[in-house]
Amino acid sequence: MSRIENESKLDMPIGVFDSGVGGLTVVREIMRQIPNERIVYFGDTARVPYGSKSKETVTRYSRQIVRFLQTMHVKAIVVACNTASAYALDELEKEIDIPVIGVVKPGAKVAADATRNGRIGVIATAATIGSGVYTTYIRQIKSDVDVIGKACPLFVPLVEEGLWQDPVTDEIAMRYLSELIDIDIDTLILGCTHYPLIRSTVGKIMGDHVTLVNPAYETARELKELLMEKGLFNPVPPSLGTNKYQFFVSDGAQQFIHFANSIIKYGILSAKVVNIEDY
Ligand code: DGL
Repeated sequence: MSRIENESKLDMPIGVFDSGVGGLTVVREIMRQIPNERIVYFGDTARVPYGSKSKETVTRYSRQIVRFLQTMHVKAIVVACNTASAYALDELEKEIDIPVIGVVKPGAKVAADATRNGRIGVIATAATIGSGVYTTYIRQIKSDVDVIGKACPLFVPLVEEGLWQDPVTDEIAMRYLSELIDIDIDTLILGCTHYPLIRSTVGKIMGDHVTLVNPAYETARELKELLMEKGLFNPVPPSLGTNKYQFFVSDGAQQFIHFANSIIKYGILSAKVVNIEDY
C-alpha cells in the first residue's frame, strides 16, 4: 500500500452501533481515549429495545446496521450493545473482513480482575442474561467465580425516556437490585450500555463496597490496541474539512440529539434518519 493510500485508510471512521442512545456511553470513551479517530454512530431508535428480542432478530438487525456502516467506509466496527455482542458478534466476525469488537469480553475481563470475594453480579437485558455470555467469559479468566445475573428489562425504556434521575427509576432499581444486595456481591457489571446513564442510582442502592464495572472504558482501550496492531490507528487529527463525528438513527432524530447532547459534551447538531430496513 502506498503512503497516501495508507494515510487515507487511517482517516477512515470507526463504526459504532447500539439499539439506541446507550452506545453513546461507549462513544464518549472512544472520543476521550483516541481523540483523533473519526466516528460514525448508528442508534436503532425505531427498533429499540433489542433485549427482549430473539437471537435471530437481533442478528438480522445487526447485519443490516453493519451493511449500512460499510457504506460509510468504516475501518473497524464496535458493537456498543451487550445484547448484540452476546447474540450476533460471532456471526459478524465471520462475515466481515474488517476488525469488529464487542463490549462483553472487555467488561468480563475488568470484573474478573476487580472481584476480591469471587462473587460478581451482572445486570443486563433479558437476552444478555439468558445467553450466559458474561459467565462464560468470566469463567475463562477465573474459573472459581460465582456470576449472578439479573435481567432489568425496564431500565432501557426508562433511560430512553430520559428518566435518569427520577423516583420511578429509584423504585424499579430497588426492586431489581435487592436480591443482589442479599447475596453479597463485591462487583457489579453494568452489562447494558444504557446503564451507565443510571449509574448513580445503581451505586446509591448497592453501596460503596460494590465496584461498578462499566465495560466502555476497557472496550475503548482494547479498540486502541486493535487499531495499532492492525496498522489502522490514526496518530494525527483527521484532515481539515472531514466530518469527524456523524450520527444516524432509524427514527426520532430530534429526541436523539437532545439526549446525545447530555451524554457527550461535543455539541451534536444533527442526526440523520436512515431507513435501515433497506440494508
Ligand atoms: N444497550 C443495549 C445493551 O447493551 C441494548 C438494550 C436494548 O435495546 O434492550 O444491551
